[in-house]
Amino acid sequence: MKEKIQNILTKFGSDRGRLMDILLDIQSLFDHIPEQAVVLLAEELDLSRVDIVEVISFYHFLSLEPVGKYAIYLNDSPVAFMHGRAEVASTLEEEIGISFNSVAPDGLIGLWDTADIGMNDQEPAAIINGTVFTELDPLKAKRLVKGMKAGKSVEELAEDLADQMYTKGILRTMVKNNIYARGSVLFGENEVGGGLKKAVDKKPEEIVEEIKASNLRGRGGAGFPTGLKWEYCRASAGDEVYLVCNADEGEPGTFKERVILTELPQLLFEGMAIAGYALDAKQGVVYLRYEYSYMKEYLESVLEEMRQKKLLGKDIAGKKGFDFDIRIQLGAGSYVCGEESGMLESMEGKRGEPRNRPPFPVQKGYLDKPTVVNNVETLCKVVPIMINGADWFKSIGTKESAGTKLLSISGDCKAPGVYETEWGLTIRDMLEMVGADDVQAVKVGGPSGVCIDPTHFGRSIAFEDLATGGSMIIIGNQHNLLRDFILPFTNFFIEESCGSCAPCRSLTVILRNKLQKILDGNGTKADIDELYKWALTGRTANRCGLGQTAANPIITSIENHRNLYEELVKTDQEYLSTFNMEEAVAESCEYVGRVPNIHSH
Ligand SMILES: Cc1cc2nc3c(=O)[nH]c(=O)nc-3n(C[C@H](O)[C@H](O)[C@H](O)COP(=O)(O)O)c2cc1C
Ligand code: SF4
Repeated sequence: MKEKIQNILTKFGSDRGRLMDILLDIQSLFDHIPEQAVVLLAEELDLSRVDIVEVISFYHFLSLEPVGKYAIYLNDSPVAFMHGRAEVASTLEEEIGISFNSVAPDGLIGLWDTADIGMNDQEPAAIINGTVFTELDPLKAKRLVKGMKAGKSVEELAEDLADQMYTKGILRTMVKNNIYARGSVLFGENEVGGGLKKAVDKKPEEIVEEIKASNLRGRGGAGFPTGLKWEYCRASAGDEVYLVCNADEGEPGTFKERVILTELPQLLFEGMAIAGYALDAKQGVVYLRYEYSYMKEYLESVLEEMRQKKLLGKDIAGKKGFDFDIRIQLGAGSYVCGEESGMLESMEGKRGEPRNRPPFPVQKGYLDKPTVVNNVETLCKVVPIMINGADWFKSIGTKESAGTKLLSISGDCKAPGVYETEWGLTIRDMLEMVGADDVQAVKVGGPSGVCIDPTHFGRSIAFEDLATGGSMIIIGNQHNLLRDFILPFTNFFIEESCGSCAPCRSLTVILRNKLQKILDGNGTKADIDELYKWALTGRTANRCGLGQTAANPIITSIENHRNLYEELVKTDQEYLSTFNMEEAVAESCEYVGRVPNIHSH
């Protein structure tokens, strides 16, 4: 074992900053990080044992205990349940003979729940040893387990199960693209290298001005003006500057980055090279979520092709002294690592806990150097802007929302997939476009966004109205909105909180428990009001966007679907006389080893 770990350390130059890569390699080799490896890493990287263990414990796909030779991570997002996740899960349990979140006694198969893996358009889906399996059903689940018991490789299993494998370059996968609308920006005629050629004829400052003039705003959710971010970065003193592409795509319901990375990787890398030129950065990093690790080799092959074409590397696009290259950094399963400062921590080989701001990443980012973090889609859009000009880009969309938006649409509709549409599309038009009727709610922007009811369907998708990073989950009238969506979305935030801020760590749990009380039929009208009031405090009392939006499923569903709450509570009572104190304190008594003695008072 020692020799194998030494080889991994050598591969990454025994660099503490590459701890994530080192741990991922060890995890994949031994199906966990053995204690011996922890001790050895601590010695070689001059860290304490605790430094290593705290990193491992932060990430969903790293483990100190074996997770199974075949580790099945089955997506447990609400949309997966819409498409039969429960039946697939129970078949897997029966066939393997274990319950979820455990490993078979012989260590062959482990069965784990996992949050949204970016496959909402082809659920139920699972990741097994890094390979994605989509559109599962009980029959396929049985064949999977049989194949594992027969010792087949995950690649063979995918080939067995797929109706047809999707191939692109060296990529071979079950994952489909499901592109239903190709707009004029991302899917326009963007000749490879055409944007870079135009860019290198300008000065870096002129490119920043062009991007500012185009009104391009970040597509990762917050909508910050891209040109302004680049200008701030240029204004920061620093000998080195970094560009980071955020390909973490962790918001449940979004999968547009997955499609861009598969279909348009050259466009992304070219956009990064242009940004690198504008920022005087020499190094770009794509932070790729672990769930998309099946694409890593393919993306690296595309990078290599681009180096051969002199679109990356040294003296790019014929410009002497313009050197820029890109590496891919894998994540290891953590939603909060999509938050830019959490991502930078993770890239430095640490727990992905968001940083206090200021300083902002443009001032002090990766390795304390000025750093721009941009979303995949944002960086892609830089290329057509270079080719066609800022005015062309501004002529598309609305006044405050220039250009197009790539939407990931899933849930109750005939054609779940990605759609490149102009900003300004109404929700009603969107529903018609995807073939959705009898709709109860749309979750715009995923769990951290808003939950709207049909009275809002005339509103438009734009920064000036319904802003979104691109996740659109359509929920039909046949579903129990509060139990099957609002509750699991709230649980999602509880699971993903990094735990640094007390309100994010605790308030979200209190809100969930109150929601559960209402769902169990034990709530009163006062509980709804209290739930709403308490939920609002989270928006200002937390350090990062996760805590600030964690109560959004509750807040916006109370605002727009209050009737659903009211149907569940006793509206004529201030408090419940049937409340059972013994039951309510049972759990805490169990933790502290106390016997409830309330009857004696
Ligand atoms: C909890 C959390 C998760 C996030 N996840 C992502 C993500 O997966 N992708 C992304 O581009 N931005 C994500 N963001 C926003 C980033 O912090 C950042 O604003 C964005 O990457 C900037 O790129 P843009 O300006 O091009 O949109 C997240 C923010 C928070 C608070
Ligand atoms: S708000 Fe939540 S996720 Fe964000 S830093 Fe605080 S505890 Fe961590």
